[in-house]
Amino acid sequence: MGEVITITSGKGGVGKSTTTANVATSLAKLGKKVVAVDFDIGLRNLDMILGLENRIVYDVVDVMEGRCNLAQAIIKDKRLDNLHFLPASQTKDKSILDKNKVEKLINELKKEFDYILIDSPAGIESGFEHSIYLADRALIVTTPEISAVRDADRVIGIIDAKSKKAKEGKEVLKHIIINRIKPELVEKGEMLSVEDILHILALPLIGIVPDDEEIIKSTNLGEPIALDEKSMVGEAFRRIARRILGEEVEFLDLKSKKGIFDKLKGLFK
Ligand SMILES: Nc1ncnc2c1ncn2[C@@H]1O[C@H](COP(=O)(O)OP(=O)(O)OP(=O)(O)O)[C@@H](O)[C@H]1O
Ligand SMILES: [Mg+2]
Repeated sequence: MGEVITITSGKGGVGKSTTTANVATSLAKLGKKVVAVDFDIGLRNLDMILGLENRIVYDVVDVMEGRCNLAQAIIKDKRLDNLHFLPASQTKDKSILDKNKVEKLINELKKEFDYILIDSPAGIESGFEHSIYLADRALIVTTPEISAVRDADRVIGIIDAKSKKAKEGKEVLKHIIINRIKPELVEKGEMLSVEDILHILALPLIGIVPDDEEIIKSTNLGEPIALDEKSMVGEAFRRIARRILGEEVEFLDLKSKKGIFDKLKGLFK
C-alpha cells in the first residue's frame, strides 16, 4: 500500500505546488512510483509546474463523479517513467469534493502507487480538510515570515484534530519545510532563522529550500527544477525526497561564512 503525503501550509503562495512537483519528481527519480494529485480545485497550477497542462483530458472530479476511470485521467510523465499526475478540476464550485468519494479515490491510488502526493489548497476550508483527511504524512511548508509560520502552526493543530489517523488515535507524521530562505538576510538578523521557526513549530525539519529565481524560470518552462542535476535549489528538493525514504542526509548549512550557494557551487564544479 502506498503512502499518502499531503503538502500543506495554511498561508497561500508559500510554495506548496512547487514543493509537490519537485518532491514528486525527486521520488520518481529515486525509482518510486509516484502520483502527484492537485486538490486545489478551481485554481490548478501544479500542471504548469510539471509542464503537463497540455495533456489534460479528465480531472480528479471527473474520476470521482464517474465520468471517466482513473487510468483515463492519470497523466504519465514522458521524462520520468515513474512520475504520474492527476489534475484538479477547473470548476468554480470548491465544495465539489465529497469525503467518501475522496477516500475511494485515494484508496485506489494507494493500491497502484508507492507515494501519493497531495497538493493542498491555501486556507483551511473544505478543500484543505479533504487534502489532509487521509494523510499518512504531512509536509508543512512555510516561508520565514511570521504570518506564514503562524498559519503553519494553525494547520498543524487542524491535522492533529481532523485527520482520519488522528480520529483513530494514531498520528500523522509531520515535517517542516522552510522555503525561500535567504541566507544573507538570516545572517544579518533580518529574516527568521531556521532555529527560530523550529522553535515555534516544534516539529522535525525535512527541508530547507533557498529563495532562488531559477524556480520561476523552471516553472515557466514546465521543467521541475529537481530534474536539473546542477541546480542548488533542485538539490534541496532531492534531499527532501531522500529523507522521506528514511535516509539521513545533511542539511544545507546556512550558517557558514561561505554560505550554501558558494558551497554547493563548489560541489558541482
Ligand atoms: N524557493 C523559491 N524561490 C523563489 N521563488 C519561489 C520559491 N518557491 C516558490 N516560489 C515562487 O512563489 C510562487 C508561489 O509558489 P507556489 O505556487 O508553489 O505556492 P503555493 O503555496 O502552491 O501557492 P497557492 O497557495 O496559491 O497554491 C511561485 O511564483 C513560485 O515560482
Ligand atoms: Mg498551489
